[in-house]
Amino acid sequence: MTKRRLFVAVALDDAARAACAAVAERLRAKGFDGRFVAPENYHLTVAFLGGVDEERVAEVGGTLERLAPELTPLRVPLDAVGAFPNEKRARVAWAGPARAVPAFGTLCGVVRSHLAAMGFTFDSHADPHVTLARASGERPLPTVAPPLDVAVAVDALVLYESRTLPDGARYEPLARVPVG
Ligand code: 2AM
Repeated sequence: MTKRRLFVAVALDDAARAACAAVAERLRAKGFDGRFVAPENYHLTVAFLGGVDEERVAEVGGTLERLAPELTPLRVPLDAVGAFPNEKRARVAWAGPARAVPAFGTLCGVVRSHLAAMGFTFDSHADPHVTLARASGERPLPTVAPPLDVAVAVDALVLYESRTLPDGARYEPLARVPVG
């Protein structure tokens, strides 16, 4: 059975994407050494599904359409730059909110519980972040200015397929459902 690698995420508008790309450039200019994410791939992950049987892809799309009216639109400010697992030992550099956004966790919980009823499993993390770069080892995160006055409008969910191409990952939208 062919498996397709899927995840549900929120896409960035042009302003948010440009602001994140500018942060990535500042990190690069300060010598952060990693694989930088192509700006067209920037997103906020809501639910990572992993490998999904080809024949279940439409079912996942149907579930998203059914649950979308239960969700409430929100905004996630991108006013901080940080790293996982932490800034001293950065493996993943991200742009995200400086403060917790409980409404985003609530939204992720609704989406994941519907998908869990289909048999998918999730870890409990729901910290909104836009991954900018992944380092091969662990290195200190340089201090750079965060985006200014930029937020991600969580007004639609996109079901993406992640495909690995010779020049890197490409995320292809398979379905888009408005939130609320
Ligand atoms: P992240 O960058 O938001 O952390 C597509 O592969 C996206 O799914 C990645 O950008 C990553 O999101 C997320 N992802 C990949 N593997 C994952 C995993 N094992 N668990 C949770 N999220 C994962």
